[in-house]
Amino acid sequence: MDKILVEGGCSLNGEVEISGSKNAALPILMSSLLADGWSTYSNVPVLKDIESTSLLLQNLGAEVETDGNTIRINASEVRNHEAPYELVRKMRASVLVLGPLMARLKKARVSLPGGCAIGARPINLHLKGLASLGADIDLKEGYVEASADKLKGADIYFDTITVTGTENLMMAASIAEGVTTLRNTAREPEVIALADVLNEMGANIKGAGTSLITIEGVSALNPVSAEIIPDRIETGTFMIAAALTKGDIQIKNCQPDHLKGVINKIKQTGAVIETGDGRIQVKGVDEILSTDVKTVPYPGFPTDMQAQFMVLMSVAKGLSIISETIFENRFMHVSELKRMGADITLSGNSAMVKGVPGLSGAPVMATDLRASVSLILAGLVANGQTEVSRVYHLDRGYEAIEKKFERLGAYIKRIK
Ligand code: EPU
Repeated sequence: MDKILVEGGCSLNGEVEISGSKNAALPILMSSLLADGWSTYSNVPVLKDIESTSLLLQNLGAEVETDGNTIRINASEVRNHEAPYELVRKMRASVLVLGPLMARLKKARVSLPGGCAIGARPINLHLKGLASLGADIDLKEGYVEASADKLKGADIYFDTITVTGTENLMMAASIAEGVTTLRNTAREPEVIALADVLNEMGANIKGAGTSLITIEGVSALNPVSAEIIPDRIETGTFMIAAALTKGDIQIKNCQPDHLKGVINKIKQTGAVIETGDGRIQVKGVDEILSTDVKTVPYPGFPTDMQAQFMVLMSVAKGLSIISETIFENRFMHVSELKRMGADITLSGNSAMVKGVPGLSGAPVMATDLRASVSLILAGLVANGQTEVSRVYHLDRGYEAIEKKFERLGAYIKRIK
C-alpha cells in the first residue's frame, strides 16, 4: 500500500490549478444513464472514485471511454439494473444510480452502502422520495430492490438536507410523469451543476441552488457535452495550505463564489485573500489567529473542510471551538493530530483546539478522504518527517495532490 512522506517546515508559494470537482462529476456521470447515445464530459478529475464510477456504469451495460480528463459514455444498451455490493462497498456514492435506473428501467437493485468512517450515513430519504414517486421498495439481503410501473411527480419534503438525496430525486423526477416539487433541498454548487447538465439534456428543472426545486417531467433526455465545475474543496484545501505554511499561493481555475463561507473563515485567521475571475490568492501571515467554526450545509462552512481547518487552528494563537453538525463521527483525524502534538479535546460534536507553537512529524494513518489531506497539511508544518499511511483514501478524491504540493515547494513523496 502506498504511503506519503512529508518533510515539514517550508512555506508553499506559486500557482496551482484546481481540478474538476469530484462531487459534481459523480452524479453527472451517473446522469448519463438517463439518455441514449454518447455523452461527453470534460474536466473530469482522474481519481479512484471516477474509476469506480466508470466500472459501475460499465457493469450496468454502458460503454465508457476515458481519455485523460475527458470521459465519453454511451448508455444506449443499459440492461442490467444491479449495483453489486463489491462496487458500492468501494464508493458509497454508487447509490446515485438509484434515481437514474428507476427513471430509465423502472427497476433497480442497489446494495445498501452501510456506514463509513465518518458516520452511519443512511439513505432513508432517497428511498422515501422514490417511494413518493411511486416506487415499491424492499430491503432484501443487504440490497435495496425498487420497482415501479411508472414514476409519477410528487411533493417531497426532505427531513434533513441531503446532497446526494436531492441529486437522486432530481434525476428520477426528470423523466417522471408530471411535476415534482422537492422541498428543503441541498443548495450546493454540485446540485446546481447537475441541474444545469440535466436541463441541457432536455429536462425542465427550476430552483436548483435554492431550497425548493420543481421538476416538470419530460418524456426523454438527450446525450450532452458538459464540463465539470472546479472542485471547491480542493480549492479550500490549498487556501488552508497557504495560510498554514505562511506562504503565498495563487489558486487558478477555481470558482471563488463557491467558497464564500470558507474565505470568510480563513480571513478571520489573519490570512490575506484576494479573489478575481477564476482565481483566489492567499497570503499567510506570521501570526495565525483562532476562530470558531461550525459545519453546516451550503452556503455555510462545509464539513468537507473541517479537518483541514482544524490543522490550521492547531497552530493558531488561542482557542478554537470546531463543531461538526453534519456527520456524527467526523473527528477521526483528531487522535492522529494529537499524536503530532496538537492540543485537542473532544466533547460530543465539538472539538476544543488550543493552538500550540508547533507540531512534530510522526507516522500517522489516514481514515477518510478529508482526514488524509489534513494529515498531509499537518506534516507540511510539523518539525521533521510525517509518514501518512492508507493514502488510498486520498486517491479517491484529490487528483495528483502530491505533485501539486511539490510544485509549490513542499518536500513530499509517495512511496509505493
Ligand atoms: N442523511 C440522512 N438520510 C438520508 C441522507 C442523508 O439522515 O437519506 C443525513 C446524513 O447521515 C448526514 C446528513 O444527512 O448526517 C447529510 O448527508 P448528505 O446526504 O448530504 O451527504 P452525502 O450526500 O452522502 C455528500 C458528499 C460528501 C459531503 C456531504 C455533505 C458526494 C458524493 N458526497 O454526501 O462528500 O461530505 O454531501 O456535504 O457528494 C467527501 O467528498 O469527502 C464527502 C464525504
